[in-house]
Amino acid sequence: MSELLKTQEIIYSKGNAIKVYTDKDIASAYVAERIAKIIKGKQSTGERAVIGLATGSTPKGVYKELVRLHKDEGLSFRNVSTFNLDEYYPILPIDDQSYVSFMKNNLFNHIDIDSDYVHIPDGTLSIEGIQAYCDLYEQKIVDFGGLDIQLLGIGRTGHIGFNEPGAVSDSRTRLVTLNDITREDAKDDFGGKEKVPTQAITMGVQTITQAKEVILMALSSRKAEIIKKALEGEVSADIPATFLQRLSNVEYILDSEAASLLSK
Ligand code: F6R
Repeated sequence: MSELLKTQEIIYSKGNAIKVYTDKDIASAYVAERIAKIIKGKQSTGERAVIGLATGSTPKGVYKELVRLHKDEGLSFRNVSTFNLDEYYPILPIDDQSYVSFMKNNLFNHIDIDSDYVHIPDGTLSIEGIQAYCDLYEQKIVDFGGLDIQLLGIGRTGHIGFNEPGAVSDSRTRLVTLNDITREDAKDDFGGKEKVPTQAITMGVQTITQAKEVILMALSSRKAEIIKKALEGEVSADIPATFLQRLSNVEYILDSEAASLLSK
């Protein structure tokens, strides 16, 4: 790992290591390198890497760096299977705001991944078919050997995936109702809050916490308040990200702004 990637301050909260970076790009490069290391490790043993992915503004820098590693340093994704956390419901994959479009634009169209191994919840299902589909999504993760790593952002409600306040620790992939604040935050993407879908399909808290490693990223001052609650508050379904406090395999990657309210 280069010297640059080591420029970080590590603080501890409730036994968890939190890495704080002054530069978002260096934080993103660190996360991309963690993912690349898993992919290469699996390549060396002839196995598939199973990577859980997130969308939104936070992981964009990670995807940019993974694309760079592919183009400039020959990182191959031929042995990679991916599972995205969530998708709006209902939505067409070809819609600009769909997470299918997001993933294609930010990552999949620029790397050598086999599309047969890409999984993103389907926003076009009939209501009656959703739960069976979600059960199958869970089963596929198990069949691939479980998630080697799950990348997460955090919503201002404390959601991980779209597990909004009230989501319990043993929740699994399912249809959920989006919180009002989450829809407010998505309004620019959709050209108005009223156009943001009211529902989504999301992996559950348990699906996420069963991953072998979890990385939660938060960048910008907009996340400072919720990061303080998520990392230092009581564990509670009121803020689903607090469930991560129970894990020993979670790493928090923050920029200085997102970490600004944490006690040191
Ligand atoms: C996205 C997801 C959400 C986002 C969160 C933060 O797949 O599951 O939990 O990670 O809403 O979004 P940004 O990064 O846009 O602030």
